[in-house]
Amino acid sequence: MRRPLLALVVVLAAIGAFTGGLAWLLDTPKPRAGAPKAERLYLGLCATCHGPDGRGSWRAALFLVRPGKLHDAAAIEQRSDQYLFDIIKHGGAPIGRPGMPAFGSTLSDQEIAELVGYVRGLSRAR
Ligand code: HEC
Repeated sequence: MRRPLLALVVVLAAIGAFTGGLAWLLDTPKPRAGAPKAERLYLGLCATCHGPDGRGSWRAALFLVRPGKLHDAAAIEQRSDQYLFDIIKHGGAPIGRPGMPAFGSTLSDQEIAELVGYVRGLSRAR
């Protein structure tokens, strides 16, 4: 009589630990209160792949995606604002770099322009 109940409790606890752990692993950092819009957009949409600091996320590595190095000043300095804008708006596919998704239908041009500034800030911070 007690055994099935115990088994049920163990199974439920295991499922809880598994899903909770998964949620913890896949969560991205929450933006600080009053963070500028670009920072909230970046942490919400981009950090899953690029990591909160632009160094690339291990979650992306898990899916064999190589999100570039947004924190690397030497690499980002060489990119024009237009290049950064276009790759965020249209994705990497048009220029043969299909790993980067397009955000043109999610974000306004204004938001993309703010993200360009935010991405530049990531490489300047270090
Ligand atoms: C699904 C994962 C993913 C998401 C989400 C994502 N990116 Fe990317 N991004 C990539 C990958 C992969 C590359 C590199 C593509 C390549 O080189 O083939 C990349 C490249 C870039 C580049 C070009 C870097 C360079 O030096 O050429 C910029 C800028 C960029 N991403 C910004 C963003 C921004 C801003 C967001 C959020 C709006 C974002 N990405 C969301 C995967 C992602």
